Amino acid sequence: DRVLVLAGGMSPEHEVSLRSGRRVAEALRGLDLEVQVADADGELLRRLQDDPPQVVFPVLHGSSGEDGAIREILDLTGIPYVGAGPQACRVTFAKPIASGLVADQGVRVPRGVALPKSAFHDLGAPAVLQRVVDQLGLPLFVKPAAGGSAFGATAVGSADALSSALVGCFAYSDTAIIEQRIDGAEVAVAVLDVGDGPVALPPVEIVPDGGVYDYEARYTAGRTEFFSPARLSDPVVAAVQQAAVTAHTALGLRDVSRTDVIVDADGQVWFLEANVAPGMTETSTLPIAVSAAGRDFAEVCRELAHRALL
Ligand code: DAL
Ligand code: MG
Repeated sequence: DRVLVLAGGMSPEHEVSLRSGRRVAEALRGLDLEVQVADADGELLRRLQDDPPQVVFPVLHGSSGEDGAIREILDLTGIPYVGAGPQACRVTFAKPIASGLVADQGVRVPRGVALPKSAFHDLGAPAVLQRVVDQLGLPLFVKPAAGGSAFGATAVGSADALSSALVGCFAYSDTAIIEQRIDGAEVAVAVLDVGDGPVALPPVEIVPDGGVYDYEARYTAGRTEFFSPARLSDPVVAAVQQAAVTAHTALGLRDVSRTDVIVDADGQVWFLEANVAPGMTETSTLPIAVSAAGRDFAEVCRELAHRALL
């Protein structure tokens, strides 16, 4: 079978995507599949038409990769691909919308507001920010409404720090999410959906050495400790897995996704976001979860590619 892995892309997560793509391509090649790797650039459509692969494995993170744009193009060509379709991607990557849909299914979501860049540059912004702090309290977390790998994301401990956090955020997105920062364990839960419905893999607990899971902590080997099995009781493991499956279903995702949650001191599960193209790098949580499940990463990649062909 000929598989085209798409990696790179036009988002700030370009480098991360190349790392994810290399890992997926190596895994598939190890199974003797014929694998090519290409970027999603201006040549993509022509390339797909001139030399169509049997299946595309998109490993593009961030905007255009996860917002559905590239998958729209793939749909035009009729070539099957791994993962959710454009509509589900759009909804999932628009994090305030995704949070609303997941909350509607009964999963706890931190209270938050979406703030457009234009409102921040308005003369009335200080009053708006004060209202947000009054409404949500402190600490807060600021992140791009559409983005990944912690670009533009900042924990905010004081009202004074909110403004600069927003400046950092608007470098990456035209809309910021300001939400309550839930204290607790950060846990990633991968979902595979390759046969009899979505199944959550073992949760991976994330403990960054400096306490903050920023870009460096994500992608520098040794900077973050991962626990899988996570240090959670069985009922809490079941709850985080249920939350991930609920999010996967509520957002209309397919084949594979990863939902990130916080488990607070009371064992309550808070949805942060779902990812339609989860990181597959050496330090990403999905491959860790696959190992924890006793599965072989290459076999899982093959299963995903085959599933797309069905
Ligand atoms: N956005 C990165 C790649 C992740 O969620 O793993
Ligand atoms: Mg993400």
